[in-house]
Amino acid sequence: MQNKEQNITQTNIWSNLVDQSRSVGDIIISDLFKKEKNRAKSMSIKIAEVFFDYSKNLITKDILKNLIALAEEANLSIRIDKMFDGKAINRSENRSALHTALRADQDGEHSANIKLKFKSINDQASKIKAISDKIRSKEWVGETGKSITDVINIGIGGSDLGPRMACTALKEFASARLNIHFVSNVDGTDINDVLSNLNPETTLIIISSKTFTTMETLLNADKALAWLEKDLETQNIRSSNHVIGVTANAKNAKLFGIDETRVVEFDDWVGGRYSIWSSIGLSLAISIGFDNFQTMLSGAREIDNHFRESPFDQNIPVIMAVLGIWYNNFLGAQSHAIIPYCERLTLFPSYLQQLDMESNGKSVDQNGEQLKYQTAPIIWGQTGTNGQHAFFQLLHQGTKFIPIDFIAPIIQKQSDDKSQKILLNNMLAQSMSLMVGKKAKEGENHKSYPGNKPSSTLLVNSLSPKTLGALIAIYEHKVFVQGTIWGINSFDQWGVELGKELSIALNKGNISNIDPSTDQLKDIISKFTNY
Ligand code: F6P
Repeated sequence: MQNKEQNITQTNIWSNLVDQSRSVGDIIISDLFKKEKNRAKSMSIKIAEVFFDYSKNLITKDILKNLIALAEEANLSIRIDKMFDGKAINRSENRSALHTALRADQDGEHSANIKLKFKSINDQASKIKAISDKIRSKEWVGETGKSITDVINIGIGGSDLGPRMACTALKEFASARLNIHFVSNVDGTDINDVLSNLNPETTLIIISSKTFTTMETLLNADKALAWLEKDLETQNIRSSNHVIGVTANAKNAKLFGIDETRVVEFDDWVGGRYSIWSSIGLSLAISIGFDNFQTMLSGAREIDNHFRESPFDQNIPVIMAVLGIWYNNFLGAQSHAIIPYCERLTLFPSYLQQLDMESNGKSVDQNGEQLKYQTAPIIWGQTGTNGQHAFFQLLHQGTKFIPIDFIAPIIQKQSDDKSQKILLNNMLAQSMSLMVGKKAKEGENHKSYPGNKPSSTLLVNSLSPKTLGALIAIYEHKVFVQGTIWGINSFDQWGVELGKELSIALNKGNISNIDPSTDQLKDIISKFTNY
């Protein structure tokens, strides 16, 4: 049992794992396949259209047993129930983390607390449907009576990465008539580039911000609205059909001037990086249509059910999480690579960076006690085969220990058989060669591949709203399981606040105690500019 008095590292299971990690040098992954005839099959899990093979990992069955026991020791089952039941597991902000309620089967069994949430969830979903239907059917017109052709989602972090990643991933499902653009960076280049090619008469701006206080988003929104106003010669553009606000802070959106009917809310128990399932998904729903958006939610729901109902040793998010703990806490891995063999998943690694690192990049536990062990690894990655010609050298022969997730859709209709075959064979060649390695002739050490490098492979039948929803949910729950084992709050992000405060102070020019280095840089900048 993990509580203030008993740290997870003080448990017998942790000690057993430390012992097992000492003899990990004796484990040769490829030899394990000879010893355990059934290893590939027994270390694979199939759920709906997802196939997860974790047999190429540096684990024996005994190690896995202890890792699963560690999850049990951390009271994972109780924590899962607490999350799904909407208990205030985000303790520093005293609120629940209920993204799972957004995609729940409302006819299923739920606590009274969850049932209470369904009304606002359904109201918000109806609004997403009404708006996306009208825009897609050309019924939604701008100030000059023309229908919308371009939608700009202005938001950052969780109010950008989810819909941006999913719009790229689900291009095959998108309306050919509508272009969806994303602006996030406060670097004016971002918004200027997007606006320079658009016609204000047919452009809709969606201002997405949970808090409606985020400096980058509000500045970019002001710029976009000024652009609309100037061209359309309208005084009341903020309350026109060209502007929608998506937020958990309707008051601020209305103060910003957005008409009440065009404020689409979501609830504050949806964390920013878990908000793709909420009204933050509006730009995505406009692109792929409400039904496809719902299908994405249903893909996540299948994983929610799998996560809640499957024994831990048959549970994809749990297995992924404990493997990560093994590498991170017992074998000293500092990072974890995500390599999708799929051009459409190009933004998936950066989406997972926020999901994982903003959730679990913590160094105090739920009680505010300093942790004496490692938490979130650095998540990074890029699509294959591109990465093969860039950083794979380091994966094969470098000195860093980096576990990898390979991800691929089996079929890609927008590609062609020949390319798809070569793409998938490249992925298989990489995971295989990383594992088996190759001895070089004497005197040719530069040609030697040590091998024994672990990886897991996630295959989906094809990339669709359903499988994308499933993939995202798998990683959400993996992050949750790891946060549970580490005893941290995966749902706050206090670490981003200090930088925000200092940038506001610098902008206002009222910063005190400026350090000599920053002062020098400020001086150099001001020699070229007037700020
Ligand atoms: O700065 C971090 C953060 O708070 C993220 O957690 C969040 O997704 C992002 O900023 C954007 O916040 P908001 O949706 O309130 O504009």
